[in-house]
Amino acid sequence: MPLLGVNVDHVATIRQARYRSGPGGSSGYGEPDVVPAAAAAVRGGAECITVHLREDRRHVIDRDVELVRASCHVKFNLEMAGTPEMQAIALRQRVDQVTLVPEGRQEVTTEGGLAVAGRIEHWKKFLAPLKAAGIVTSAFITPEPEQAAAAAEAGFDAIEIHTGAFAHAWTDRTGAGGAAYQQAREAFVHCVRDFSHVLRIHAGHALNYENTQDLLSLPGARSDIRELHIGHSIVARAVFVGMEQAVREMKRLVG
Ligand code: PXP
Repeated sequence: MPLLGVNVDHVATIRQARYRSGPGGSSGYGEPDVVPAAAAAVRGGAECITVHLREDRRHVIDRDVELVRASCHVKFNLEMAGTPEMQAIALRQRVDQVTLVPEGRQEVTTEGGLAVAGRIEHWKKFLAPLKAAGIVTSAFITPEPEQAAAAAEAGFDAIEIHTGAFAHAWTDRTGAGGAAYQQAREAFVHCVRDFSHVLRIHAGHALNYENTQDLLSLPGARSDIRELHIGHSIVARAVFVGMEQAVREMKRLVG
């Protein structure tokens, strides 16, 4: 049964919509504050909290990482680009896990997977100090065998399979997107089947209260996916029912 990781970035997105130019509001940093949001997510059943500290600090800021890390008593996963600055922050904050993602300035959210194939030596070097510090390392990749094999060779402990293509195709699964949906399901199942014996399997991106159940019904999914990482749909649901309840509902679906 996968553990539920909740990504609280979009709580910060709401704050930054008003307070981008600097501190303010009742917390001194603007509201809503990601620190109580993370605590509420844990009360609702989150077993891991994720924040993505982007290089442009468009949502989560350094102060959020420090305070959530200090106050969070579940697994803390820092999503980050593979830069020396982010590596230093991960080490300083003694995070439990890093998930390496590609970052593009123009993208609204993480679009593609990390390029690991062809860059194995680069990633080996980058991971070395993180692994020496006991930090679990995960690569966010599309479900392609060459990327997963490269992640294993580079020494990543885990891969987070990008579920964006699956989720996108899911919305049109009974229409013109039927073939893409089948293809996305097969790619996911093959990746889990072929790599769960060498890498921990995580999954995430664009999962919601409907498509998550479908993903988890795929062969091997419930038994072999170790972590699911879900953000936007939970924060969106939290607008109506509160964070604790939104997480509780997702946790019920995950099992
Ligand atoms: N996992 C990774 C690696 C991501 O980049 C994101 C998006 O920040 C998520 C999970 C969560 O995606 P969503 O917000 O669509 O649930």
